[in-house]
Amino acid sequence: MAEFRLPKNSKIRKGQYFKAEGAKNIQKFKIYRWNPDDGENPRTDTFEIDMDNCGPMVLDALNKIKDEIDSTLTFRRSCREGICGSCAMNISGTNTLACTISIAKLKSKEIAIYPLPHMDVVKDLVPDLTHFYAQYASIKPWMQTDSVPLPDSERRQSIEDREKLDGLYECILCACCQTSCPSYWWNGDRYLGPAVLLQSYRWLADSRDEHTGERLEDLEDPFKVYRCHTIMNCANTCPKGLNPGKAIAEIKKMITERHAL
Ligand code: SF4
Ligand code: F3S
Ligand code: FES
Repeated sequence: MAEFRLPKNSKIRKGQYFKAEGAKNIQKFKIYRWNPDDGENPRTDTFEIDMDNCGPMVLDALNKIKDEIDSTLTFRRSCREGICGSCAMNISGTNTLACTISIAKLKSKEIAIYPLPHMDVVKDLVPDLTHFYAQYASIKPWMQTDSVPLPDSERRQSIEDREKLDGLYECILCACCQTSCPSYWWNGDRYLGPAVLLQSYRWLADSRDEHTGERLEDLEDPFKVYRCHTIMNCANTCPKGLNPGKAIAEIKKMITERHAL
């Protein structure tokens, strides 16, 4: 897998070392720290954790550090079961969810934790996702229809049409794929990136949506889709096992087929 770049503000210095006095089963965590209010460069702090008194997941260790050692450690989390996407971060070199990654399975003496790469950092492990969400909003991620719905029934879909959304609807918008894509690192201002394009295809593939033509027209631009060079970091890193690269290939196919009509 490709080595991911560090966050943009990353002249990193060595920070503090927190020992777990008297513990027998120690796991070390090296964690990126940056506070926009102290005027200092980023640093990495190292925490020893007593694994006999800690839950099994990386998020358990982060919660333990915040609760018992340093309450200023800042990270996002909510569901703690791989549903909300908020605990996405770079753990041992891979973008993934802290709540679904087992500490034991990482088999590392010192687990390094950084924010999602190549994004501006708000604080510590919290990336600034403002631009990502604006790009998501730009693809109009809702069903668009012109026909009048039946008064007493929802818009129905056949089982086969519904199955076309498998591998798409499961996306939790964690941005792990988006921030693993070198094309997005270099052209993120104009390239929509794998997560946003997978979401875009989710609506293009929906038999109930009636704005397929407009959606494809809007994507036809040298940067929005065509900066995908099939690097496939996105599929390798997705914690939900999805394949944004394949969704992007389907979009390119739909654009080509539309021109052939
Ligand atoms: Fe996260 Fe996977 Fe969706 Fe990308 S495709 S945002 S990695 S769930
Ligand atoms: Fe990037 Fe995935 Fe395409 S890593 S270049 S979006 S196949
Ligand atoms: Fe929700 Fe990890 S806390 S996905």
